[in-house]
Amino acid sequence: MTRQPASLFTIFGATGDLSQRMLLPSLYSLDREGLLPEGMRILGTARSEHDDAGFRQFVADAIERFVPDGERSEDCMARLLARVHYQPASLDDGTSLDALGERLHALRDERDTVYHLSTAPRFYAPTCAALGERGLAGPGTRVMLEKPIGRDLASAVAINDGVGRVFDEERIFRVDHYLGKEGVQNLLALRFGNAMFEPLWNTRHIEQVQITVAETVGVEGRGDYYDESGAMRDMVQNHLLQLLCLVAMEPPTHFEPTAVRNEKIKVLRSLRAIGRDDVAQHTVTGQYTAGAVAGKAVPGYLEELGRASTTETFVALRAHIDNWRWRGVPFYLRTGKRMPQRRTEIVLQFRSVPHSIFDTGASPLAPNALVIRLQPEEHIELRLMNKTPGLDRHGLQLTQVALDMDMQEEFAAHRRRLAYERLYLDAIENNGTLFVRRDETEAAWQWVDAIQDGWRRAGLVPKPYPAGTAGPASAHTLTEKHGHAWLD
Ligand code: BG6
Repeated sequence: MTRQPASLFTIFGATGDLSQRMLLPSLYSLDREGLLPEGMRILGTARSEHDDAGFRQFVADAIERFVPDGERSEDCMARLLARVHYQPASLDDGTSLDALGERLHALRDERDTVYHLSTAPRFYAPTCAALGERGLAGPGTRVMLEKPIGRDLASAVAINDGVGRVFDEERIFRVDHYLGKEGVQNLLALRFGNAMFEPLWNTRHIEQVQITVAETVGVEGRGDYYDESGAMRDMVQNHLLQLLCLVAMEPPTHFEPTAVRNEKIKVLRSLRAIGRDDVAQHTVTGQYTAGAVAGKAVPGYLEELGRASTTETFVALRAHIDNWRWRGVPFYLRTGKRMPQRRTEIVLQFRSVPHSIFDTGASPLAPNALVIRLQPEEHIELRLMNKTPGLDRHGLQLTQVALDMDMQEEFAAHRRRLAYERLYLDAIENNGTLFVRRDETEAAWQWVDAIQDGWRRAGLVPKPYPAGTAGPASAHTLTEKHGHAWLD
């Protein structure tokens, strides 16, 4: 893929919440660091009626609110605002689309154009069609699509077909913002920039893998979207399965789009299907009720939503990857809203020593574990057994201690970046390595659909858990009945 920077960056849904919190602040930070191409213009579009000046004020307000004080300056703000334009448009109003088309033609030059569709997914195909009809989707244009791509395999295929009629696959950049996170990329650095882990990274040495994405927030005013989605579609289909791919995939030949995505798709296709007959054994769902998070009382999901619902706000799964490397190793995945702490963590637990020479009595040797924490802070920890200092008469006493690496401390001089800074820079420079290919999205939906179909057929509904707790008790049974435990 040739790399040609874009000179026009267009955000559809430019007045939305994501735009204010993440997208505009990311463009600001890239500009501040001199990373935006010379003369690149930014065009915002949405239904709201703004003119250029009105949208510039909107952008300035978003930067004031969401970029930390120490990172803002008048010069940088003025430089960014000088790039910014706005054109209102609505898909049900052909005249407004014509006006948008004219504006885009006027702002483009011979360099590339990026369109970021940060709208509801049902608008993706019609928006692309509208661009195509106006001669705005030819070579040198590319489109970024926010998640979720559909709500099941059929709707994802329909969206991908619709977008694919206008843009070739290598010009479609599907966003999973987890891939833009520093800690997620560091997982690749850890695995493939070091020789010592690879010989151990397989079923011979690893007993179990756990991936947890716990959030303290509830549904935060997004009830209508969330209730249609639930934890499985909102988090597992994308973020958790992408993390699983990066942990489990074979080493790609290069850090480049095709090589990396070819390895991820193999993992997704090796996931053992879970369906009606085994959902009860391999999955647990929950829905939070009123409780307390960080000492503050919070309402239950149904109170927030204001109606009855059987949507899951928590899911835990026991997955298997049927290939040589991972045969027999359970991958426990878990995500939920209103958990006690915000924490994204991957834990690889190694097998126990084959024979202990120590008489450790009632407390057997704890197996080694590699803990990779991605959020809220980045942290890598290797848990090892160590002699407890002392003159024990009955043989050595051992305690588990951690070799640990704190990225905040290690890289104190480096600014923490938003995931969208990485993703925007890559899209502007036409590098798709950290974006999701069509086949990955569809394979992930296929696996998720079978589970959801299983829940329906087996009549499973989420179990209640009080907000501020780690999900329903059966989430513990899921691991314990196989001799494992969540490593919190
Ligand atoms: C989004 C989900 O994709 O990811 C949200 O739609 C979730 O429900 C969010 O809260 C979590 O992202 P992060 O970056 O805060 O871990």
